[in-house]
Amino acid sequence: MLIGVLLLINQVVSYLSVTYYFIRPNYQQINSLIATQIKMVFLDEVNYHDDATQKNIFETTNIHIYSEVEAIDNGLQQAVYYQFFSRQISDLLGGEADVRISSTEPFLIWVNPPQDPNVWITIPMASFSEGDISPLTIYLLVIGILSVAGGWIFVRRLNKPLHALQVAALEVARGRVPAPLEEQGSSEIISVTRAFNRMSKGIKQLEDDRALLTAGISHDLRTPLTRIRLASEMLPEDQSWVKDGIVHDIEDMNDIIDQFIDYVRQDTREQKEKMSLNDLIEDVVQARNIEEHHHIVTHLGNIPEVRLRKVAIKRVLDNLIENAFRYGSDNIEISSEFHKRNRTVSFCVRDFGPGIPEEQMENLFQPFTQGDKARGSVGSGLGLAIINRIVSLHKGQVELTNHPEGGLMATVTIPFN
Ligand SMILES: Nc1ncnc2c1ncn2[C@@H]1O[C@H](COP(=O)(O)OP(=O)(O)OP(=O)(O)O)[C@@H](O)[C@H]1O
Ligand SMILES: [Mg+2]
Repeated sequence: MLIGVLLLINQVVSYLSVTYYFIRPNYQQINSLIATQIKMVFLDEVNYHDDATQKNIFETTNIHIYSEVEAIDNGLQQAVYYQFFSRQISDLLGGEADVRISSTEPFLIWVNPPQDPNVWITIPMASFSEGDISPLTIYLLVIGILSVAGGWIFVRRLNKPLHALQVAALEVARGRVPAPLEEQGSSEIISVTRAFNRMSKGIKQLEDDRALLTAGISHDLRTPLTRIRLASEMLPEDQSWVKDGIVHDIEDMNDIIDQFIDYVRQDTREQKEKMSLNDLIEDVVQARNIEEHHHIVTHLGNIPEVRLRKVAIKRVLDNLIENAFRYGSDNIEISSEFHKRNRTVSFCVRDFGPGIPEEQMENLFQPFTQGDKARGSVGSGLGLAIINRIVSLHKGQVELTNHPEGGLMATVTIPFN
């Protein structure tokens, strides 16, 4: 906008300069020539009423002297009145003059002089037409458009790397590390891009190290756990309650290790494929419905196929169902819906338990965060963090809401594309 306005001002100033310092003086000169010629006609020595003199004047100077009637016959009516010329020539001739210019060729200047208001004098002007002015306007217009377009391209070129940086920074914020950005643009932008590339490389390195570390620890814990479990099998029969306790604890620890591994696994390697979300839900529900005491009712809407990472979304469902049974109720509901207008599909896992206090909801998405009741019990506080990461990988959203009639509703919305 700024460049555009500056260029516009530049154009206006050029236009005015050309008009005032070039065109105007030119016209003044023309006017003074016209006035001189007219004054010659009215010299005392010239009997301009006389036909022979008129003819003589025409032959030598191309100037015609017409009476009012003759003037009309010769095209006075087609001539256009010009105030600018009339005023200037009036000044030069010392009285009211009416100046017109014929709008068709041959271009004639018609003057009704103050010396004799009954006559019209025509002076031919070879290169005089309105066409002389319009090329100037066109040139200025073309130059104006070219400079604004140039400015626009310049600004765009300047902004392109910035835009790429913004997009890449948002990617990093979503937990994905984009390919290094091309170093282009001004030197400042190049250094910012270089710094950004170095930063995202660092983040990736950190993430990879952390994943390796966590996966390594989790993996290494499994072996001693298996050994303990084996050892517990050797306990005498009368101490089976000890054995049961140990097995139960080992199962919990295995679950925790699974969650750890799920959390560090980025799930980015799994390809998205088009599939039916409803089928996926049915799959997970079927696997769960074998459990005693636990019941899942489904209300599945008519939804189109969506591009999903199958294993990851199954993990989301599993975690939500696990939470609903663990902290909610033994009977839960799962529903799915298609929102045509927003172009999204969603599924909701609902339980009939106590729900979650509003003020804790945001927090629980942080890794290793558990609600008051869950503290010290099973679980690692990673479930919702894993869900959140997977869903944002699908550019979707997770929302927790307490149902007005009790229970928690966890809704996952995924854009449909
Ligand atoms: N359906 C629910 N009803 C009530 N509270 C819930 C529900 N789901 C989750 N919460 C609360 O949110 C907390 C965080 O859940 P999250 O799934 O992240 O961790 P977790 O279940 O404790 O551990 P993990 O899932 O890793 O085994 C839980 O500790 C619990 O307090
Ligand atoms: Mg959980």
